[in-house]
Amino acid sequence: MAEEKSARTKDVVDSTVHLDVKDYYGRVLKKTSDLKSNACVAPSQPLPAFIRQALKNVHPEVCARYYGCGLVVPECLEGCRILDLGSGSGRDCYMLSQLVGEKGHITGIDMTEDQLKVARTYVDYHMQKFAYKKPNVSFVQGYIEALTEAGLEKNSFDIIISNCVVNLSPDKKRVLTEAYSVLKDGGELYFSDVYSSGRVTEEIKNHKVLWGECLGGALWWKDLLLLAEEVGFSTPRLVTASVITVDNKELQDILGDFRFVSATYRLFKIPKGNTKPCQVMYNGNITGVEDSFLFDCQYTFKVDEVVEIDGELASILTHSRFVEDFSFKPPGGPCGPSGVRPKAGCVDPFELVLQLEKRSPGSATGGCCSTRSAACCQ
Ligand SMILES: C[S@@+](CC[C@H](N)C(=O)[O-])C[C@H]1O[C@@H](n2cnc3c(N)ncnc32)[C@H](O)[C@@H]1O
Repeated sequence: MAEEKSARTKDVVDSTVHLDVKDYYGRVLKKTSDLKSNACVAPSQPLPAFIRQALKNVHPEVCARYYGCGLVVPECLEGCRILDLGSGSGRDCYMLSQLVGEKGHITGIDMTEDQLKVARTYVDYHMQKFAYKKPNVSFVQGYIEALTEAGLEKNSFDIIISNCVVNLSPDKKRVLTEAYSVLKDGGELYFSDVYSSGRVTEEIKNHKVLWGECLGGALWWKDLLLLAEEVGFSTPRLVTASVITVDNKELQDILGDFRFVSATYRLFKIPKGNTKPCQVMYNGNITGVEDSFLFDCQYTFKVDEVVEIDGELASILTHSRFVEDFSFKPPGGPCGPSGVRPKAGCVDPFELVLQLEKRSPGSATGGCCSTRSAACCQ
């Protein structure tokens, strides 16, 4: 058993992909502007004031080494234990540290020493700034494919986030499997990543710069659905998506007709088997989204408004941390058919980008603020 375990660890540690990625994020890149493509662009919708403020409080050196591709702020965070896969210099950890409060905790895991060093340097700075008596952030060195081997306990996290990292892993199924095992029942994996419009070619996969820039390892979005199902997660719920443009001719020539988006999905660890569709009403008690809670691209819950939801969402809401924030009809949980059909699912980020562009031109094509820019801390 011990031998089997060390063999598993060894093939993670010895992977050339890991060594190349470590080299890229440790030695080659020193700051956000060293990136060779604008592979990750932000949704250009304005950020809510409380998130802007939380980002402003993060130390500039941490922000200067931010390489994410989305905003990873799920709702209802007070007191939660959160794990950040590939936490880098720690920007998202320090932002979320403020939102979970002193009773919550954020663990960041990353394999690259240089990134961890920056993150760890500023623990005291941030705890003083937030006036916390003891740190609620810690950083672990390890592989996202081997979370339990890095010392993280099974069934111990309420939420896992990740920002532009899973694409860098050569074994995405293992990442999702490990994430599933360290999540508590009812827990959520909420993550932003880069997705492609089809399975990319071997030439693209083997290109070190494209891999390091988060394009070569991008999953075809449909493969995320398959992996999630194999691992046991609920069907990924698409939250938002924005187009990635690669303004680098050399890289673009290799990428050919493949298109890329940055997308945020939420996956839940809930019991198998769908519940029936039901009606719910949001009570407006979640901090920051008191009037209106955008759960995913299909469902926005306005306070006190009755909404018909599909069976899987009914199961998610009743088994997750959101259960107290909704009333269910009939009371107590998912119910029988009520005559109103729930909306058809939208999980294709390329389709969502088109819809968003139609609704509000420019909103899904990046713009004012590249999320990979240090300006996103201001
Ligand atoms: C694109 S950066 C994103 C960093 C951070 N999430 C952010 O938003 O700034 C990718 C990070 O993931 C880490 N990483 C990539 N693959 C990893 C793996 N298999 N295990 C652990 N860390 C990994 C890299 O070391 C790097 O710090």
